[in-house]
Amino acid sequence: MNQHVASRRRAVADLMSTPAVTAGPEETMADVAVRMEKERVSCVVVVEGERPLGILTERDMVGFAAAGVAAGSAPVSDWMTPEPDTVEPGCETGDAFASLAERGYRHIPVVDDGRLVGVVSMQDLMKVAQVQPMLHPGEVEAPKGLAGVIVADTVIGDVRGQEGFYHYRQYSARELADKRTLEDVWMLLFDGALPEAQARAGFLDEVRPLRVLPEAVRPLLADIIRAGTRFSPLDALRSAVSLTAAGLGFRPCLDIGAEELRADAVHLCALIPTLTAALFRLHRGEEPVEPDPELAHAANYLWMLTGRRPQAEHARAVEQYLISTVDHGFNVSTFTARVITSTGADLGAAVVGAVAALSGPLHGGAPSRALDMLEDIGEPARAEEWIRGEVARGGRIMGFGHRVYKTEDPRSTLLRELAQRLGGERAELAATVERTIVDVLAELKPGRELHANVEFYAGVVMERCGIPPEMFTPTFAVGRVIGWCANILEQAEDNRIIRPSARYVGPPPPQPVPDP
Ligand code: ACO
Repeated sequence: MNQHVASRRRAVADLMSTPAVTAGPEETMADVAVRMEKERVSCVVVVEGERPLGILTERDMVGFAAAGVAAGSAPVSDWMTPEPDTVEPGCETGDAFASLAERGYRHIPVVDDGRLVGVVSMQDLMKVAQVQPMLHPGEVEAPKGLAGVIVADTVIGDVRGQEGFYHYRQYSARELADKRTLEDVWMLLFDGALPEAQARAGFLDEVRPLRVLPEAVRPLLADIIRAGTRFSPLDALRSAVSLTAAGLGFRPCLDIGAEELRADAVHLCALIPTLTAALFRLHRGEEPVEPDPELAHAANYLWMLTGRRPQAEHARAVEQYLISTVDHGFNVSTFTARVITSTGADLGAAVVGAVAALSGPLHGGAPSRALDMLEDIGEPARAEEWIRGEVARGGRIMGFGHRVYKTEDPRSTLLRELAQRLGGERAELAATVERTIVDVLAELKPGRELHANVEFYAGVVMERCGIPPEMFTPTFAVGRVIGWCANILEQAEDNRIIRPSARYVGPPPPQPVPDP
């Protein structure tokens, strides 16, 4: 609703004209016109005693003049707007403004307990804030957290929260994870189609050499590790991406064509696993492992991270995890990447922002916390008490709940199956604990539809495949960077700067600036 937002917290009584200029219902239009002229007002409130019966405005006067009726004998009651809307003196000026704007009035009588105490005009209300007094036409108020607000058209994919379904360019993401490689999905996201054998081979040839750390960046990675006492892999990755973009000479997307931007995107996506693994190893005092051109993207990541040839089933499980998390609508990190791209910045800047957004526990930081929770719970019998305690102290159960899914997260279904396929005690514990958590949350948070999200089983799967907990979220970034980049390419192709508005709710301006 349009609203005089900056005028909040001040009441109508502070601004109204009082006493209001009034007229009796039997007075003639001629007498009232003279009074309006004399009092320099553009409306009078028609009253019986102190009770408002109607309002007569300049607009009514114009209608009256056009009718050609004799002003000396026409009673005001015939030409006024009867039963006018009114406001109370305590009404917030913002609400009064909204009411006037919505109904198209310029004046509104102020009535206290049936008694006319004044009149407030649009002009009075606009005096409260001389800067940007009205929202722009067409501007709408979005719900907190932008929940449910559609901010762009996309052909990359879609999340259907109520149906528990999501897809990439019309193919079920779950089916892609079952049937395709990460490189195929990468091509699908970037180029719009799943590749045939020849195109795939060409793409693999393009990507392989790009996995090697650029010489300009290689020596700087050790400095990133040395910069802090606590190793935070996503913080380190953020810095590494920034240096890499500079080292590779990425230019503002505003200044380059789609082909150069795509080349930057392929290069950065190829490098992120190398950067992630190298930072981890340097932090442990180990040398980075060179990428192996014989290995597929996911397997090569595991190789560079652990220095061991991954078992085929581990490589495939991680690949399926990466495929299933490559893209997911306008999640926070993707949106961040698009916002930065909308400014015309380079692709590196957009990915740095996305990594930063992902580092927040409410977005990407949950899988290791979910695993910590399983560690803490220890055995199924303790689950219920643990969860009740956590919710009672206002905590959130990590790996549960989702902004869009109000049913089971399909990624969680896939990962549960992967966890069970890989086996192990942790997978069994997770399945039992999941059921308890869903039941307890349904009781304690009725109607919120809190189910396991992608993060709950992600940690279980990754741990089983030899990925250490601190590398869970960076591993998510290894796949998600492809989705970020697909969104960056799409945003750049049809760009308008993303620049919403905010509602000012502080003290009403302008306040006099105190002398120093
Ligand atoms: N545990 C307990 N209560 C929860 C949880 C949870 N995991 N998630 C939501 N709720 C409750 C909230 O307390 C709130 O209750 P209230 O109405 O009594 O205040 C209600 O459900 C709605 O919560 P919101 O925060 O409004 O839900 P929103 O859609 O904004 O948040 C989010 C979604 C951030 C994922 C939330 O469910 C959460 O914090 N989950 C835990 C963290 C997590 O797992 N994050 C990973 C998400 S997946 C990803 O980003 C890749």
